[in-house]
Amino acid sequence: MTLEWVALAAVRWVYLLAAAGLFGLSLFPIYAPREIRRIYAEDAYIGATMKALAGAAFVSTLAWAVVTLASLTGDGLISALDVAAWRVFVLETTFGPAWTLGAALALLNVLLVARAGVRKSFGLLAPASALLLVSHVWLGHAAAVEGASARAVKLGYTLHVLGAGAWFGGLLALTFLLGHFDDLLDTQALLERFSRLGLLAVAALLIGGVVNAAAHLPSVASIVSSAWGRTLLVKMALVVLMLGLAGLNRFVLMPRLRLYPTSSGKALRLSVVAETVLGVAVLTLTAALGILDPAS
Ligand code: HEM
Repeated sequence: MTLEWVALAAVRWVYLLAAAGLFGLSLFPIYAPREIRRIYAEDAYIGATMKALAGAAFVSTLAWAVVTLASLTGDGLISALDVAAWRVFVLETTFGPAWTLGAALALLNVLLVARAGVRKSFGLLAPASALLLVSHVWLGHAAAVEGASARAVKLGYTLHVLGAGAWFGGLLALTFLLGHFDDLLDTQALLERFSRLGLLAVAALLIGGVVNAAAHLPSVASIVSSAWGRTLLVKMALVVLMLGLAGLNRFVLMPRLRLYPTSSGKALRLSVVAETVLGVAVLTLTAALGILDPAS
């Protein structure tokens, strides 16, 4: 594991957390009960979190290019100051145009978050952050798939990242709302909306994940023989734990909420936080997955 590899994995980790979190957080008020829209518009902490995530997505997109440039030129971080190297990177590499599009979308998200703070509306952020997430389809392993399955893989990737962002960012929103506004919220109604959206998100991400896994794995045996395959196995095990907690919330804790609001509310908050932490761990493995070679 080289220093460059670790730097690239770290940059990808920040990007994935920020872009997925921003998408899920901006989608949340669209399907949540009306009172949530008011809280979103008025709460300074939510506004600051969204600004921080949009900023982190933009900075990590720039950092991705700097680390990639350093590795391509072999000149280290100093190559970030080399205008000719940037020109080659943007215009002559296969991923240059995709990166430029991603950087433009990341900047658009920063501008929209800043504007949303003034206008008290986050409506445009959901489509803009969705486009940002999906734009990475041309930067990773999905871009390298050619032939008849290329379209299916890209569509699978799109479903996967949108489902992942909706689930993970939705958990971030729930963690925050249940921790800060417990007495102001109709928790039952909020959780019902989230679990309906969550079901769709999980279905999309499972279909997309399986399509991408099948496309990248050269053989069934490589799921245990390659580092990529083993990382994917651990990722799937963590997803099973996340699904277990989601089931516990939906089928055990939610029905008990009306009967035992205090104890079930506490258990529910804990369980949502644990599910969010598992989501961070899944995205950590995903950051590595994208830069490991599925074939070796
Ligand atoms: C059984 C469940 C899952 C499977 C089989 C799966 C599989 C995959 C595969 C094969 C890829 C492509 C990796 C590559 O390009 O090398 C991927 C990417 C991705 N996964 Fe998953 N995944 C699962 C669950 C999740 C979950 C729960 C999340 C988030 C909470 C998530 C977030 C992502 C993201 C954001 C990407 C895109 C990474 C990039 O652009 O490089 N995945 N997943």
